[in-house]
Amino acid sequence: MLANKRILLIVGGGIAAFKLPELVRMFRAAGAAVTPVLTRAGAEFVTPLTMGTLAGEEAHTALFDLTKEVEIGHIQLSRAADLVVVAPATADLMAKMATGAADDLASTLLLATDKRVLIAPAMNVRMWEHPATQRNMATLHRDGVTFAGPVSGDMACGEYGPGRMVEPAEIFAQVVAMLREGPLAGKRVVVTSGPTHEPIDPVRYIANRSSGAQGSAIARALAQLGAEVVFVTGPASVPPPEGVQVVRVETAAQMLAAVEAALPADAAVMAAAVADWRVAQPSEAKMKKENGGLPTLHFAENRDILAEVAQRRDGRPKLVVGFAAETHDVVAYATAKRARKGCDWIVANDVRPETGIMGGSENAVTLITADGAEDWPRMGKDAVAERLAARMAAAL
Ligand code: CTP
Repeated sequence: MLANKRILLIVGGGIAAFKLPELVRMFRAAGAAVTPVLTRAGAEFVTPLTMGTLAGEEAHTALFDLTKEVEIGHIQLSRAADLVVVAPATADLMAKMATGAADDLASTLLLATDKRVLIAPAMNVRMWEHPATQRNMATLHRDGVTFAGPVSGDMACGEYGPGRMVEPAEIFAQVVAMLREGPLAGKRVVVTSGPTHEPIDPVRYIANRSSGAQGSAIARALAQLGAEVVFVTGPASVPPPEGVQVVRVETAAQMLAAVEAALPADAAVMAAAVADWRVAQPSEAKMKKENGGLPTLHFAENRDILAEVAQRRDGRPKLVVGFAAETHDVVAYATAKRARKGCDWIVANDVRPETGIMGGSENAVTLITADGAEDWPRMGKDAVAERLAARMAAAL
């Protein structure tokens, strides 16, 4: 999967560094060459000898080694790689990256590189939540740095919360996605899919019949063309495709937050059947019959993820694709929806029960663009996905 690829692996000083040998092993098994670079603190947690032995090449640590500076040079070291991975990315390394500081080999390489950078943050929850780190994260996002995690979990320091490094397998999957080849290589696409669940009380929710089949197929087709796909999925009945970054959510609000966290991206495809309304105040305890009477639910409107992404001033994806499920006047409604939401394309489909489309394996869609409406013949959802992905590749 990674044959002929070279990864520059920068190891920061965090306890999560103990997982790095496993990551190197995965890269090597996939055919990649790995150049390990350890910060001074990183070398306290995992030794250069361990990293160098597993990588099959010397691990670098210091900046001013004159012999090496002549032989290799930090510029060359940073350019020879296809991708730079920083794991664990400590708060300090993130701060250096965000400000462009270059006072050791690792930070100098990060400033000198012209390659894409993937970072896997790992730190104490308070350090992660500190405004300084959050500011640095936003800056790095804007600079085009890709994030793997962090996730929430128990920490070595005994606390619980966000700040834990994602598992090596996840970093590996993201690297594979980022190094894919094809017409969409180097493009990042966010895809939403599936239904959302809006809680009524701790055991009940409101949902819809979306299976997630079309969204899954689109994510797969985009990944096959080389895109790096962030797949934000509600509780779908169809499993997510391989080779995409999966973010699981339940509610529309969580889906919006996940999409915002996944931006910036080159394109966004909003295939999810997002609930338009949520229960305004879900009950904290299970609602009981013996309380008498019939319950009354009060609703609040969910924010429109598609419209918000399409109407962003800052960092709007170049291509924003929405879906429209209609039961009549498909083209007229979908054309109006395109204008109202501000997206570039709408994939409209007729979801009258007799079409068997919702929850079925086939789809008959009309693609609405600035140039008008285009009817596609009825075909499998995979074929619709492939055709849409090819169109997106051409447009991007
Ligand atoms: N969408 C969204 N966030 C919402 C609601 C919808 O992102 N809160 C997106 C869907 O993913 C889809 C498109 O908007 O891409 C569908 O728009 P919507 O207004 O929900 O259309 P329909 O479901 O077709 O319903 P209606 O005709 O009632 O507007």
